[in-house]
Amino acid sequence: MDKKFFITTPIYYPSAKPHMGHAYSSIAADVIARFKHIQGYDVRFLTGTDEHGLKIQKAAESDNKNPKDFCDEISETFINLTKTLNLSNTDFIRTTENRHKETVQKLWSVLEKNDQLYLSKYAGWYSVSDEAYYSEDEIDEIEGKKIAKSSGSVVEWMEEESYFFKLSEWEKPLLDFYKNNPNFIKPESRKNEVVSFVSSGLKDLSVSRTTFNWGIPVPNNKKHVMYVWLDALTNYVSSTDYFNNHNGFWPANVHIIGKDILRFHAVYWPAFLLAANLPLPKQIFGHGWILSGEEKMSKSKGNILDPIKLIEEFGSDEIRYYLMKDVIFGLDGKINLENFKTTINDLANNIGNLSNRIFTILQKNYECKIPHVSSNHTVNSSLIIDIKKLIKFMDNYEIHNYVKEIHFYSSAVNKYVNDNEPWNKKTNSDQNIQNILFSSLFALRNIFILLYPIMPKVCEVFLKNMNINKPLLNLVNTDLKKGEQISKPDLLFKKYD
Ligand code: ME8
Ligand code: MG
Repeated sequence: MDKKFFITTPIYYPSAKPHMGHAYSSIAADVIARFKHIQGYDVRFLTGTDEHGLKIQKAAESDNKNPKDFCDEISETFINLTKTLNLSNTDFIRTTENRHKETVQKLWSVLEKNDQLYLSKYAGWYSVSDEAYYSEDEIDEIEGKKIAKSSGSVVEWMEEESYFFKLSEWEKPLLDFYKNNPNFIKPESRKNEVVSFVSSGLKDLSVSRTTFNWGIPVPNNKKHVMYVWLDALTNYVSSTDYFNNHNGFWPANVHIIGKDILRFHAVYWPAFLLAANLPLPKQIFGHGWILSGEEKMSKSKGNILDPIKLIEEFGSDEIRYYLMKDVIFGLDGKINLENFKTTINDLANNIGNLSNRIFTILQKNYECKIPHVSSNHTVNSSLIIDIKKLIKFMDNYEIHNYVKEIHFYSSAVNKYVNDNEPWNKKTNSDQNIQNILFSSLFALRNIFILLYPIMPKVCEVFLKNMNINKPLLNLVNTDLKKGEQISKPDLLFKKYD
């Protein structure tokens, strides 16, 4: 059986329509999922929407809708986004689904049975926008308003009866866990952040609310609904139906998240799982923010780029390529249209041009068949791509370096073509020309297999034209079939002024 790989995106709040930040997380996760797929893994890729809590209830109220109708509507736009972005997700979970509610209630019962919960009273600061509790030292006062330093969102005082989770008991086990699993939190800088937060001491966590009702009821105490983050995080387990069916997909290999929700994933989530005796995810990757100017792009700031509009205008492959190449995965990145156009023009001038040059000669003089290379022909060593290096980039989630490496390789192939002049019948014998074309096609096939996780649409078209229905990594650097009929792809990449 194929080796399994389970990857997740955050489940997004359907409090407003998706924006570029959501698209970014989902695209990155999809690139990794597709890479694992061409490596031969049985991939499970989960995304979805996080539909409970006060934030959603308030958003629904201000839209004069009941929360479920409100969520149905906006969740639909997130489902549509998976199609617009061409995601290969195998599941889309909504936390209002029964399969999820049952799992969360089961987890609650396990925590209760393990003596991890107690009833008391919460008094402290809460941000509805972040659905997060903040301590006094995490708060600032700006123009008479109390805000959370980390997110800038408004906090309000909250005092009510609440169940608590004994988070404080897990301080030492968590620190041990981080130490024994040095790759659990990536990138490294984020791990340091988490370790210092946990080392500074963990307080018990309020995990239920009584002052509103849009949430999953606490079993045996209907006055309480569960804290939305306990609910939301559990989606990763619900989707695998772990309690009923140990199908081998839980624990997840990696949760891809933005750095804004690191604490929930790297502290609360492993603590809940440890307390319930469930396996922990293998890795959490906290990427940076897509910035609009100097600020984080976010719904609450209203400075968003609409991914759907951009994709309608420029294409999903192109947006994917731009985001993956130009934003260092793990760091913040500014994006703008001008840079987008430059990056896509570079792609057209490099890879697009290479394909066009080779296929033009091939079609004109060789009926678009894979050339008959001489028997002693070997592919020039500059055209053998270092596949181990690429796998390593992906294993480290250096997606930007992976894309750049393909770009360098294509430049090297262009240089090879320029140096060897397959169009020049004066300096080259016909056999020579066929050898050069063969080698160039070999390289082009490598490029389009490797680029597939980033730009699935255009690569599928290109590879179909080369009679490859399923891109697989183990085809890279292997021989082509002499004499095989292939076809010239139409224009692969547009250029912009
Ligand atoms: O936090 N740049 O949902 P959310 C990069 N429901 N990524 C961004 C971004 C930006 N400017 N803005 C958003 C929630 N994101 C919870 C998650 S998971 C169990 C529950 C991405 O709708 C990034 O992945 O606020 C961030 O972590 C996520 O969207 C937050 O989405
Ligand atoms: Mg948010």
